[in-house]
Amino acid sequence: MKIAVGADHAGFTYKDRIAQILRDKGYQVLDFGTHSATPVDYPQYGYAVGEAVASGQADRGIVVCGSSLGIAMAANKVPGIRCAPVMEPYSAQLARHHNDCNVLALSERLTGWEMIEQLLDIFLSTPFDGGRHAHRLEQLFEFGDAQRERTLKAIERGEVTDAQTPKDLLPKP
Ligand code: RB5
Repeated sequence: MKIAVGADHAGFTYKDRIAQILRDKGYQVLDFGTHSATPVDYPQYGYAVGEAVASGQADRGIVVCGSSLGIAMAANKVPGIRCAPVMEPYSAQLARHHNDCNVLALSERLTGWEMIEQLLDIFLSTPFDGGRHAHRLEQLFEFGDAQRERTLKAIERGEVTDAQTPKDLLPKP
C-alpha cells in the first residue's frame, strides 16, 4: 500500500516520524514535504496529498499541521477526498467505519505522540462498513447542479424533508 504524507512547518516533525513508522511497517511512502521549520503555506501540502490519493498515485494520505484543521480543509477541496481531522480514537474509528476516510489529518500542537501512534494504527487497520454509509457518502460527491436544486428547494420549504435513508439499507432490528 502507498501512503502520501505532507505537512507544513508546524507539522513536519510528526510527519517525518509517521513516514518512518510507515516505512518500517512496509508501506511505500510518498513524502511531499515540508522538511524544515521554515514557514510554508499548508494548503499546498493538503492539495498535494489530496491529489495524489484522488488520482490513485497513493492509496491513502496523512496530513499534519499545527491544529490539523487548515490542512484538512485543503485536502477536502480535492474531489474524491474524505479527510478527517481526528484527535482521539473513537473519531478515528468512525472516520473509517462510517466515512471511509482516505486522508487522515493530525495535529502536532494539540495531540501527544502516543495518541498519534494509536490514531495511525486505527486509520490503517479499520475497515469501511459500506451499506447505508456508502449510500450517504455517494451524496458527498454528487454536489453538482441537481444537488444544488434539491438543496435550494429544501431551503424554500424551510426544512430538509427528503433525506430518509432507504429502509433496506438500515440495520435489521
Ligand atoms: C501555522 O501557524 C498554523 O496556522 C497551521 O499549521 C495550521 O494549524 C492551520 O490550520
